Amino acid sequence: MSRTDSTGFVAGYPLKAHNTFGLDVRAQWACRIERETQLMAAVRDPRAAGLPRLVLGGGSNVVLTGDFAGLVLLVALRGRRVVGEDADAVYVEAAAGEPWHEFVAWTLKQGLPGLENLALIPGTVGAAPIQNIGAYGLEMCERFASLRAVELASGETVELDAHDCAFGYRDSFFKREGRNRLVITSVTFRLPKAWQPRAGYADLARELASNGYAANGKQPDAQAIFDAVVAVRRAKLPDPLELGNAGSFFKNPVVSAEQFKALKKRQPDVVSYAQPDGRVKLAAGWLIDRCGWKGRAMGAAGVHERQALVLVNRGGASGAEVLALARAIQHDVLVRFGVELEIEPVCL
Ligand code: EPU
Repeated sequence: MSRTDSTGFVAGYPLKAHNTFGLDVRAQWACRIERETQLMAAVRDPRAAGLPRLVLGGGSNVVLTGDFAGLVLLVALRGRRVVGEDADAVYVEAAAGEPWHEFVAWTLKQGLPGLENLALIPGTVGAAPIQNIGAYGLEMCERFASLRAVELASGETVELDAHDCAFGYRDSFFKREGRNRLVITSVTFRLPKAWQPRAGYADLARELASNGYAANGKQPDAQAIFDAVVAVRRAKLPDPLELGNAGSFFKNPVVSAEQFKALKKRQPDVVSYAQPDGRVKLAAGWLIDRCGWKGRAMGAAGVHERQALVLVNRGGASGAEVLALARAIQHDVLVRFGVELEIEPVCL
């Protein structure tokens, strides 16, 4: 049984509805944060003193392998607004608890394109910088201006720019040195006035072509790209409300030019993307698919049947089952291709 008191603290709080994998675990304490002042009160509450803390927005990038012996902060800060503009861009701020997809749709309704390639990504605005969400040829860091966060140790509000956030591919300061140190409260995006469609990603280009657009013909507007991204994602990726998952379970691995050459010799059809530094990114989904894992299951954890990079909860899976499946996949890919796959979501 969960019990709530006047401070908003709840003991033994069920987290199943707060993680997109649908893992059925509980938090020792949880507190829903609707205003910044509640955040500080929660952090300073004596019941949480010395306990680990976990910030959950949409819970779309986390694997909860057991009950959480600490305080879960359920960030539900809301609000979004245009905060300014200069000659080149319009600046839009959204509170951390805003659902990401609704926020993207809202920017387009305001006539502010720039985020459309990131349509339908599950989770909240506050989670977007943590793994630097990216899809269909765009990474969030390309539209990022700054963010505000509360430092858990001091209670101070701090502002971070892109340099402070040290964004990389599915990576940032918040996954490394900044882990568990800050709670993001709002993010400001820079949406360029000189908008250009970003329509080159293979799946997206195909979908746009089938809607009558062409690279050297009729150009899509931002809404057409938004609609095409939504269609591609719906066709390929499971809806977490129907089938628990955390999106891509592994990062696409980056290998040296030499390792790639050797691999390509053995596997001429390997899917790859040359990187600016000479290394080569491989499609983890392709590697996993080639190992025969697509659509397979181990216990209640499975590999999605249309995208092998996505692990799913077929119903009642535990975090341990999901991780056992992940380890088996990592093993097979390493043995067959000599490539190590790194798990992308945060595992707790
Ligand atoms: N592929 C297969 N079999 C599979 C899956 C993929 O052969 O089961 C091949 C595809 O045919 C394609 C290539 O692998 O040639 C890449 O597949 P896809 O375009 O679906 O993209 P991805 O590299 O698997 C990445 C992101 C996704 C993002 C898509 C589109 C990562 C870890 N994942 O996936 O992000 O939506 O590109 O941009 O970078 C997420 O992070 O949760 C996520 C879904």
